[in-house]
Amino acid sequence: MEPMVRVEGLTKVFGKGCHECLVLTGPEHGGNLCTSCGSVVACADVTFDLYEGEVLGVVGESGSGKSSLVRLLHFDWDATAGAFYLNGHHPGDGGVRVDGNLLSASSYQKKGVRDRTMGIVYQNPNLGLRMDISAGGNIAEKLLAAGWRHVGRIRERAAGLLEKTEIPVQRMDEPPSRFSGGMQQRVQIAKALSNNPKILLLDEVTTGLDLSVQARVLDLIRGLQREFHLSMIVVSHDLGVIRLLCQRTLVMRYGRVVEMGLTDQILEDPQHPYTQLLVNSQL
Ligand SMILES: Nc1ncnc2c1ncn2[C@@H]1O[C@H](COP(=O)(O)OP(=O)(O)OP(=O)(O)O)[C@@H](O)[C@H]1O
Ligand SMILES: [Mg+2]
Ligand SMILES: [Zn+2]
Repeated sequence: MEPMVRVEGLTKVFGKGCHECLVLTGPEHGGNLCTSCGSVVACADVTFDLYEGEVLGVVGESGSGKSSLVRLLHFDWDATAGAFYLNGHHPGDGGVRVDGNLLSASSYQKKGVRDRTMGIVYQNPNLGLRMDISAGGNIAEKLLAAGWRHVGRIRERAAGLLEKTEIPVQRMDEPPSRFSGGMQQRVQIAKALSNNPKILLLDEVTTGLDLSVQARVLDLIRGLQREFHLSMIVVSHDLGVIRLLCQRTLVMRYGRVVEMGLTDQILEDPQHPYTQLLVNSQL
């Protein structure tokens, strides 16, 4: 079976960069800041596959590059180097067909791929939602971008998604600024699912939520994953979330992937000293 997604050598350097950025940073140098030019190496040489219906976990300490990785995959930023292939991508009417490395596609093509095949839940809900327009309007925006036109159908779909994510439909005309943190995350999930994405990117989707709300959000995600056979990348520093959702996991440190494998194996028998520390600290 061919992987649905192939990511090769994905790299993002913030700053002017120099030819030493990659050799002066990383786990063996204990940091992600280039001591020669002062640039930050958020991700370097990240390589992995994602199969259809698979859930891949990403763990690592704060600042290790987890959010940067998902934001690069969502084309929020231009990558410094690397390749991103999406197999069997055939968007519908008005869509674009892109073969080869998506990172070197035009911004119009990237937007087409993002709007029609991806959903994202940002760690910071302010990045994922416009807090001043209604919850329904936030979902409508994504549906319009994905090519939906009929106002009545858009509203119906938004209501259905909010219902699925347990937001009272009577509140769909309220702005998310009036919602609790857990509700905002669930509106982000509803929005992320609206275009029937092939790939769902979840960045700390339960962090900061009350334990009972966390459990409900996790149940919801697990159910949606099964129902829609979603391929997901799940970023979390909570190993419980990773254990529950992810078949395979990659561990990041200072922008690098330091370990990758089956989640059970990584949690039971971590090979890398950093992963051992991470697992032991959360036992
Ligand atoms: N827009 C930006 N400009 C400059 N540096 C950035 C930017 N965004 C992220 N970085 C840097 O990239 C590195 C990785 O950050 P990132 O947000 O990806 O970490 P993370 O693993 O998601 O951390 P956390 O667990 O705290 O969310 C950090 O050193 C950060 O300061
Ligand atoms: Mg983050
Ligand atoms: Zn440098």
